[in-house]
Amino acid sequence: MLNVVIFGPPGSGKGTQSENIIEKFNLAHISTGDLLRAEISGHTQLGTIAKSFIDKGELVPDETIIGMIDNKIESLVGAKGVIFDGFPRTVAQAEALEELLAEHNSKVSVMVNLEVPKEELVERLLKRGETSGRSDDNLETIEKRISVYESQTSPVIDFYKAKKVYKAIQGVGSVDGIFESISAAIEGAK
Ligand code: C5P
Ligand code: MG
Repeated sequence: MLNVVIFGPPGSGKGTQSENIIEKFNLAHISTGDLLRAEISGHTQLGTIAKSFIDKGELVPDETIIGMIDNKIESLVGAKGVIFDGFPRTVAQAEALEELLAEHNSKVSVMVNLEVPKEELVERLLKRGETSGRSDDNLETIEKRISVYESQTSPVIDFYKAKKVYKAIQGVGSVDGIFESISAAIEGAK
């Protein structure tokens, strides 16, 4: 399987670039943020728990996220590969993903880190907030999400560097230009 982790701070373009990658490489898409928002829309128990964290810009606990990913991976056995978007968000989640993939004799092929300066992230997310309808696309929650990224999520970078699957990509510029760099990184991992 070709397993890609698309990584980066909130607003770095993970969702946008995932759409291009899925199409070109024929991968299944797992966006934990989208899964959580679907649970919220469906008024499930998980959705209620998730909403309390998302609205504050905090992370949903690891056990909850890992359980959700486990179910989703089981449903994708036999897929050509998977793109993980917005997951892993912590080192504990990265370790769990290794184990879940190992159960299917698989592993992360490449981790693509979209590097974007903080001012640009805030600008993009405020702009997205004008139309996204997302409860967390407001200035206060955006600032919180970025600080949570810095403290809890950015250590995942070193985890994948140690696994020798890490690729940094300049995430500022045209969507097409960034996609070319990402494609080259994924081709290199095949
Ligand atoms: O990935 P995305 O930006 O769509 O995630 C939105 C929110 O969902 C995050 O700010 C966080 O509250 C929650 N989330 C999480 N753990 C994940 C993915 C998303 O807690 N692995
Ligand atoms: Mg997203």
